[in-house]
Amino acid sequence: MSNDGVNAGRRRFLVAATSVVGAAGAVGAATPFVGSWFPSAKAKAAGAPVKVNIAKVEPGQQMVAEWRGQPVFIVHRTEEILANLGKIHDRMADPESASSVQPEYVDKTSRSIKPEILVLVGLCTHLGCSPSFRPEVAPADLGPEWVGGYFCPCHGSRYDLAGRVYKAQPAPLNLPVPPHSYESDEVIIVGVDQEKA
Ligand code: FES
Repeated sequence: MSNDGVNAGRRRFLVAATSVVGAAGAVGAATPFVGSWFPSAKAKAAGAPVKVNIAKVEPGQQMVAEWRGQPVFIVHRTEEILANLGKIHDRMADPESASSVQPEYVDKTSRSIKPEILVLVGLCTHLGCSPSFRPEVAPADLGPEWVGGYFCPCHGSRYDLAGRVYKAQPAPLNLPVPPHSYESDEVIIVGVDQEKA
């Protein structure tokens, strides 16, 4: 592998994932990390689709799945989160995802099939670190204008809760949305495209 940035990002993701499991054990699973739904090593190597049960992701929370060795963030967005996306639209570098990566069947602004469920590849578009989920409004370290989003610990890129990158960040593009579809209201398949209606 020649891309050191991506490899470094993967290593950081593994470290971060381990930390999440440790933290969840300590505080009672604030962020579900559902190992039992991960595919076998053989299936992952083949890039197989991954079924994820999202029933236990409470409004305002995120769970992290894995697909093709990459973290996949799945967020249950509230009405407030969705309303805030419109308020910060003009502060985004690519607000309607013209240059970013997502399937054609997701809305280009909310970046989802169903508004309340966001699915993202959790690797920063700068050098591939895994951004932190920061859903709080106006936390001290991110400032009074922060309405919830992702913060990349490596070089500070900021994204909103549609995975859209703010202007003037190291990261050039929005977090990618992977191909995905709904098997039922509670089960998403990452890696299989939604059929056209
Ligand atoms: S890898 Fe995310 S800001 Fe550089």
